[in-house]
Amino acid sequence: MSKIERFSVSLEGELLKAFDDYIDHMGYASRSEAVRDLIRNKLVVRHWQDPKAEGVGVVTLVYDHHRRDLPEKLTELQHRFFKEIVSTTHIHLDRHNCLEVIIVRGRASKLQKIADLLISTKGVKHGRLLSTTTGKEIR
Ligand code: NI
Repeated sequence: MSKIERFSVSLEGELLKAFDDYIDHMGYASRSEAVRDLIRNKLVVRHWQDPKAEGVGVVTLVYDHHRRDLPEKLTELQHRFFKEIVSTTHIHLDRHNCLEVIIVRGRASKLQKIADLLISTKGVKHGRLLSTTTGKEIR
């Protein structure tokens, strides 16, 4: 672990008050911890913008499994990208709706493409990609 460095930040009072309210609401132990998280979030977003970067992501899909051909289409897509799809969990939310949680790992640009294909499949009610880090490029 590298040496801790200190730097000071100048902010308008109102912005600092809003930041302190955020810290309080989130439960951070200190401003430093909150700033570290904000920086890491920005670095992960930036990392994903590099098309060659390796990333990890979680795709969530909510859909009605009665919808014609939809489960087959989603399975077909997942088989197409078996190298990137690490794991899939399927939860039956009620008699109709399913939640699928798909963990993906690989080149960030490819993961984005896989997520877009899954989410845009006709009949998917709601889909999201949470893009995160393998942890290697971040401290
Ligand atoms: Ni189901």
